[in-house]
Amino acid sequence: MTDPIVIVGAGGFGREVLDVIEALNATRPTWDFLGFLDDGAPDEDLLHRRQAKVLGPSGALADIDAHYVIGIGSGEVRIRIDALAASFGRKAAILVHPWANVGSDTELGEGSVLCAFASITTHVTMGRHVQLNPGCTIGHDVVLEDFVTVFPGAAVSGNVLLRRGVTIGARAVVLRGLEVGQGSTVGAGAVVVRPVRRDEIVVGVPARPL
Ligand SMILES: CC(C)(COP(=O)(O)OP(=O)(O)OC[C@H]1O[C@@H](n2cnc3c(N)ncnc32)[C@H](O)[C@@H]1OP(=O)(O)O)[C@@H](O)C(=O)NCCC(=O)NCCS
Repeated sequence: MTDPIVIVGAGGFGREVLDVIEALNATRPTWDFLGFLDDGAPDEDLLHRRQAKVLGPSGALADIDAHYVIGIGSGEVRIRIDALAASFGRKAAILVHPWANVGSDTELGEGSVLCAFASITTHVTMGRHVQLNPGCTIGHDVVLEDFVTVFPGAAVSGNVLLRRGVTIGARAVVLRGLEVGQGSTVGAGAVVVRPVRRDEIVVGVPARPL
């Protein structure tokens, strides 16, 4: 039996999330994908090529009895959409691509998406709507709080704490045991060698505030 699901956000990452759903269904029919919800003007041609349609704006979740997942890279936007969905009593799905690696004794929060080749090892704890993009690695005992985004190829070392809404840029590295403060962004390619304060943007090697 399959469960109905919608993706909120029909942009680039939303279409990547559809890839995850299709890969899961190819392994075992799991989800009945109804369509996207989007508050903007997504590329209709690209959606048509995926035989997908936009069912309405995010507020249409009020009338669609389905699981939802948020295909939007911005943690701030995910916070807003999650609150809206909760107000309608909707439940977020957890999507783990069959080619993702999930180690032992891990906790995945509702709404989390693990793309192909994302890897989490052992004793990792993830909050709500965490996004792990292709090829990122999350080491042992890492805590990723709600709405964290890890972009492609980033490496988060063991015992790191990523606070709510943190973004780790593509190919960035966070060294072992460090904390990245709430709402902060680590730029693409940066190497974080000391703790990052709240609401900071850090870039470079070693990473320094922008
Ligand atoms: C760090 C980041 C958040 C800065 O974004 P921004 O605030 O819009 O900054 P700007 O693009 O205006 O750049 C400001 C300055 O920082 C520099 N800069 C931007 N990103 C940088 C990075 N990752 N490393 C080093 N320097 C960077 C720019 O060259 C510019 O320098 P200048 O003032 O000397 O010209 C962004 O560039 C980034 O790396 N985001 C990560 C997201 C990511 O990986 N996305 C991948 C999606 S698949």
